[in-house]
Amino acid sequence: MEEPKVSQKSPYRVKLEPGKKYYWCKCGESKTQPFCDGSHKEKGEFRSVPFEVFAEKEYYLCGCKKTKRPPYCDGTHNNI
Ligand code: FES
Repeated sequence: MEEPKVSQKSPYRVKLEPGKKYYWCKCGESKTQPFCDGSHKEKGEFRSVPFEVFAEKEYYLCGCKKTKRPPYCDGTHNNI
């Protein structure tokens, strides 16, 4: 199984709003981290992760791409 690229070894802190659909980059190749820009099409088995939020606030989205709770950071980056 292909491994995702580690785009950074820490989460991205981003302000998100309810009512919008977001697409978290899972392959690590996107130039618009932490969001998908379609680069996964070069890396066959990866798909972006669609998600929404229910409160307007800052969220920590995984940058290492190894989280067990995508798209959110779960601390796994501390073991890389
Ligand atoms: S940045 Fe990936 S788990 Fe924290």
